[in-house]
Amino acid sequence: MENRQKLVINGGKRIEGEISVHGAKNSALPILSAAALAHGESVLHNVPTLTDVDAACRILTTLGCKCRKSGNTVTVEASNVTGSEIPDTLMREMRSSIVFLGALLGRTGHCRLSFPGGCELGARPIDLHISALRKMGAEINEEHGYLDCVAPDGLHGAKISLSFPSVGATENILLAAVTAKGCTEIHNAAREPEIVDLSEFLTKCGAKISGAGESVITVEGVRRLEPCEHSVSPDRIVAGTYLCAAAITHGEIILTHCDPSAMNGYLPVLEAMGAKIYTYGGGKLYMSCKRLKAPPTIRTMPYPGFPTDIQAPFTALCSLAEGTTVFVETIFENRFRHVPELIRLGASIRTEGRVCVVQGVRSLSGAKVRASELRGGAALIVAALAAEGTSEITGLEFIDRGYEAPEKAFRSLGGDIRRV
Ligand code: EPZ
Repeated sequence: MENRQKLVINGGKRIEGEISVHGAKNSALPILSAAALAHGESVLHNVPTLTDVDAACRILTTLGCKCRKSGNTVTVEASNVTGSEIPDTLMREMRSSIVFLGALLGRTGHCRLSFPGGCELGARPIDLHISALRKMGAEINEEHGYLDCVAPDGLHGAKISLSFPSVGATENILLAAVTAKGCTEIHNAAREPEIVDLSEFLTKCGAKISGAGESVITVEGVRRLEPCEHSVSPDRIVAGTYLCAAAITHGEIILTHCDPSAMNGYLPVLEAMGAKIYTYGGGKLYMSCKRLKAPPTIRTMPYPGFPTDIQAPFTALCSLAEGTTVFVETIFENRFRHVPELIRLGASIRTEGRVCVVQGVRSLSGAKVRASELRGGAALIVAALAAEGTSEITGLEFIDRGYEAPEKAFRSLGGDIRRV
């Protein structure tokens, strides 16, 4: 639903200080789905306060779970999962609801959901999800925009090779495999830290998984999963967004409760640009950045490569670097939607399909801009914090999906930003 609020930012202030990195949206969502597999009440800590998390809790409630959130702790009581249909409205609100498919098939043997529409990033097909679940014994009919999935004899293990290390497909296969009959092998599995986090939750519930975080994951099906208590890992993309905001304003920042080992896809790029980065134990990282040299090329890749989700904030950062950067977006077909808005702020960027060329300029200047997807919206905040003068950012319904109270976060770091 449209959000009529806007962020008003007076740029040019150095972003500096200390901030705690909140839990990862892309860990919390599959783990909330996994909670529906456990017969009882699971307790999840460090769950970020985001509209996507609210949507996932609403889905769990429609499925017959009791979902309670207080602060950053969510309890999911899933003794009786009565439903197996995800309402069309919730599927449209959050296409990543597709991650409930594997869990519902595993728990109830049935799942009906409307085909997750494309989104701002492109078609977002789910062919890899469907072909894998069919190999595990699911019968999946696609008609009238609906997916009707049943596993009449329950799911069984299979050897699955993914043509692309899809994060969502790997998650759905894991969720289906943990209580399937027999052994499942996933080859060319996604290696993202969120997969490891999901696997740790499932293992605490009694699942038998090995190789999470590697390209081959093996799952030995068990009869039943019991609830557990788990703390969601830190959001490596939110952490990177905070670093981009500090770097673009030549500030210095300390991140706490982050996981530097999950940030190695982009920390070396910041260092190559001139940032000084020190990591301490216990999830603490320091960065200062006095000047910005443009990296020649940034190519998004599956983990452990440069994450596609941090590409947009980096195009904002490189707008003020010395030199020119060629971005190659290899993961999604349409992930430069934020570029015209950055150009309104004075950036010099040209895009051609999956390639975008950013020529550093001396300064950006405030403007009225609009977010049209989550990470593009974050890029606009990064740019506006450095732009001279006042900027207004609308389309906050996109930003609120993945960033907890961004105006509070950046105000606590010295930014002149408020939500009106
Ligand atoms: C997850 O999306 C994340 N979302 C995305 O973050 C992230 O950008 C993406 O992984 C890549 O890291 C969540 O975790 C909720 P994929 P997902 O399946 O699972 C193609 C954000 O901003 N593909 O790895 O959808 C697909 O079209 C969001 O937080 C198929 O062709 O990513 C895309 O080009 C945006 N067939 C590529 O693979 C399939 O069956 C990557 O998709 C599945 C995917």
